[in-house]
Amino acid sequence: MSTRVHKPGPVFPRPQDIPEAMRVPYYEAGARYLIRGEVRDWTGPCQEVLSPIFIAGDGGASPHPIGGQPRMTGAESLDALEAACAAYGRGSGAWPATAVADRIAHLQAFIPRMKAVRDEVIRLLVWEIGKTLPDATKEFDRTVEYIQDTIEAMKDLDRTSSRFAVEQGFIAQIRRSPLGVVLCMGPYNYPLNETFTTLVPALIMGNTVIFKPPRYGVLLHAPLLEAFAASFPPGVVNTVCGEGPVVVGPLIASGRIDVLAFIGSARVASLLKHQHPQPNRLRCILGLEAKNAAVILPDADLDLAVKECILGAFSYNGQRCTAIKIIFVHRTLAEEFCARFARAVEDLAVGMPWEEGVAITPLPDEEKPRWLRGLVDEALAGGARILNRGGATIDRTIFYPAAIFPAPLASQICAVEQFGPVTPIVPYGEPDEVIRWIAASPFGQQAALFGQDPAQLARLIDPLVNLVCRVNINSQCQRGPDKFPFTGRKDSAEGTLSVSDALRVFSIRSLVAAKSTDLNQRIVSSIVTGRHSKFLSTDYIF
Ligand code: G3H
Repeated sequence: MSTRVHKPGPVFPRPQDIPEAMRVPYYEAGARYLIRGEVRDWTGPCQEVLSPIFIAGDGGASPHPIGGQPRMTGAESLDALEAACAAYGRGSGAWPATAVADRIAHLQAFIPRMKAVRDEVIRLLVWEIGKTLPDATKEFDRTVEYIQDTIEAMKDLDRTSSRFAVEQGFIAQIRRSPLGVVLCMGPYNYPLNETFTTLVPALIMGNTVIFKPPRYGVLLHAPLLEAFAASFPPGVVNTVCGEGPVVVGPLIASGRIDVLAFIGSARVASLLKHQHPQPNRLRCILGLEAKNAAVILPDADLDLAVKECILGAFSYNGQRCTAIKIIFVHRTLAEEFCARFARAVEDLAVGMPWEEGVAITPLPDEEKPRWLRGLVDEALAGGARILNRGGATIDRTIFYPAAIFPAPLASQICAVEQFGPVTPIVPYGEPDEVIRWIAASPFGQQAALFGQDPAQLARLIDPLVNLVCRVNINSQCQRGPDKFPFTGRKDSAEGTLSVSDALRVFSIRSLVAAKSTDLNQRIVSSIVTGRHSKFLSTDYIF
């Protein structure tokens, strides 16, 4: 059923075209939520979840409902807040007071329970957000690996804190302590992984959590609710679901959320932060928008540059915060680069997420194709052209990928984060022009340089590392490996995430210090040997 970009054709499946293993019956279990350790059925109003995968029938392809998601109110979210605050118990609750080794054991118990619903979660990922089957599988497995790596990083962190510091006549023990109640809100492009990359470190550090799934990608969390309920004490993990202003507004306005972990738009992040009555008390870990540039230098290996830029710009339909969202190509090889890039775009397979080799799939945001087409039309009116056949064709939720050249720098397509399968290509003469553009951009996540001359690359690396947070050489932009720091400047991020950095952002250093007198040494040693404290302790986690 899949087609190529240069030859738009029917792509949506009839019911009988859907492979047996990928069929989803209407998912009734989606209308559930977790509070105080109980998985409850939601009996209030629900919103129908429509898959971006339309189903073909006699009258053409039409939207396909796959379940209902709860439309909660402020009352339920405040109830979840009460549950999370009680479990935190002002720092003395069951969870923050649990020893690190025991918190690790809870997380370890969660892993096999999570793995037990792997296929169901992956299938829902495919149907809810149109992610290809290999990418949805990778998202699940990468998340499990992230949990395992977080456990190991936590052990390391705890081992280094298990000794006393002796300094200038003082003895002290310094550890990282939890911050309180964390609100985790992941994005729709990585609804599982990017929710868990904040939720897991927040939990292991001893915080309690409320998490709200994104706009798209809600149902896939439902199979995991029992796993949470069985693995953590009541109130440690709670879920809310519904319209952001209705369910999130009251949480932030209560002033009782200590940490906001949000991956999404800069506009929403700013709105949320300003709803807190004491903004200085709110710690924010934000992953926001980006406009990552690829720079093709005059001596670039074009095969490699095209391959990496295609991956960078069109993996998961360009819906990655790390996607390459603008390409600057040196005038001397613009023609050749554009011709090869256009051929590679035309060759991408458009189809359903389970079809082998498919690259372009339906977009979860139904409004997106028309909005993207508007960006393209504005650029065309400014003198650009669509380089590839079939580019910017719309078929319901499918947007055929397009490369636009020469994209006018003044057009919206060169300014906003398109978060979709369309790439503006801009010719340049001097590398300084590109540096000035990146410096003026409101975003500062990553850049990718394609070239071979070490001296020329080094001349660009040095200014770029002070404008963005990762410079990729002859490689697409990306978050992974997850042990690398992931962050951004300006409106792209606040705080740094990586397996080990995340443990730091969800905690704060606390210490117990005493003048090193005989009396104090006797007291400290008696607390430690009598195992009276979990903080003052030399226990070593193996
Ligand atoms: O959407 C942003 C993601 O963190 C990108 O991750 O580069 O591994 O696709 P990725």
